[in-house]
Amino acid sequence: MSFTPESRTTGDASGEHTPGPVPGPETAAGPSPAAAEPTNRWVYNPLTMGPVYDAFVIGWSHEHFWGISNKVIHELYDTHLGRVHADVGVGTGHFLRGALRRRREDLAGRRLHLLDNSPSSLNATSRRVLRNTRGTGLEVDARRCDALAAWPLPDASVDSVGTTMMLHCLPDEDGRGFPAKAAVLTEAARVLRPGGSFFGCTVLGERDPAPISRSGERMRRVYNTRENIFHNTGDTAAQFESLLGEAFGDSAQTRVRTVGATLVWEVVR
Ligand SMILES: C[S@@+](CC[C@H](N)C(=O)[O-])C[C@H]1O[C@@H](n2cnc3c(N)ncnc32)[C@H](O)[C@@H]1O
Repeated sequence: MSFTPESRTTGDASGEHTPGPVPGPETAAGPSPAAAEPTNRWVYNPLTMGPVYDAFVIGWSHEHFWGISNKVIHELYDTHLGRVHADVGVGTGHFLRGALRRRREDLAGRRLHLLDNSPSSLNATSRRVLRNTRGTGLEVDARRCDALAAWPLPDASVDSVGTTMMLHCLPDEDGRGFPAKAAVLTEAARVLRPGGSFFGCTVLGERDPAPISRSGERMRRVYNTRENIFHNTGDTAAQFESLLGEAFGDSAQTRVRTVGATLVWEVVR
């Protein structure tokens, strides 16, 4: 199956399963010009996006550098994953796959939109999701897209949006912090149905007072000085809360907290 900007597949209830979408760099067609040049190719590539990423980033860095237990992220997915879910900045799909596995008996008729600007991340996640959900009736589509551009989803069309450990990767050339990344919040608000959830987490920058371990502080500095790994120096919790208010309005229920050096948010609109 070749990958198109809107590749879709279903783990049909008969147990027959159509392979794909499995986007590769040469076949993946992205809808926005920004998606044509994924950042971090030397970080997010076919060799790293698998066991290497899971062991070093999820298994080690989350807890030891950023002070967040993976249990917190698993709980976000378990609490908020809706029937139509958009995952933005998918990585290897580790947390998403965990939540799907735990509700395997209830996947028929659900739909998953995977959005990322890296073909390697989309490839890793869609392959693994499809392998794990064979025969369940879950529909999956994967699209290359820049999280800061318009998402290829209609208004009020999804029940949940999850974006974990992605905002700290987004470019912020002038060091403004979260205001440079506000498009992610406004796009999440646009695509969510009333009652839907927006959840996620991100590593805060050195301008935020959240405590961080010595090794974490060192890594954060290194990641911010090497091109295209982190751009979070200016990211503060106060900025994020205020942008959430602007994007979702006063009627949304929001919970924003810091866990170690990580900001964790849950919004129900
Ligand atoms: C650190 S990984 C996080 C993966 C996963 N959400 C997790 O929690 O394990 C960040 C992901 O965001 C994606 N990403 C980075 N910049 C992006 C952008 N501008 N638009 C879309 N995706 C982006 C990367 O390709 C990668 O898959």
